Amino acid sequence: MQLIILKRALALFFIFVFEKNILKDITIILIDREGNRHSLKAPTDINMNLMELCKSYEFPIQGICGGMAMCASCQIYIHSENILNIKSDDEEAMLSEAFHVKDRSRLGCQIQITPQLDGLVFELAPE
Ligand code: FES
Repeated sequence: MQLIILKRALALFFIFVFEKNILKDITIILIDREGNRHSLKAPTDINMNLMELCKSYEFPIQGICGGMAMCASCQIYIHSENILNIKSDDEEAMLSEAFHVKDRSRLGCQIQITPQLDGLVFELAPE
């Protein structure tokens, strides 16, 4: 009897979650170094960042420091107007020493994927 109640509660929970789109993936557009646009599905519920998303799709982004804002090998250029987290002092410092930096440069590893990034467009910086 308790098992049946538990199964029904779980079923109701998953129906609620999916109907409310709590676990909804978002779409992010990546522009590669040849100028080609790619539509990527990105999960918002596993604490992934843009550098990790690029790696998961096997795009050539290095991420040498593993996301510690210490290498700038994950530099990207933001093309859309999505509201992003503010750069940390570490990110500012790393970008001040990096090559190919533009006004819209960010470190991909410092941008967590959240629902607010739906429709984000970014480009890989040169290696
Ligand atoms: S992976 Fe090194 S700064 Fe982002």
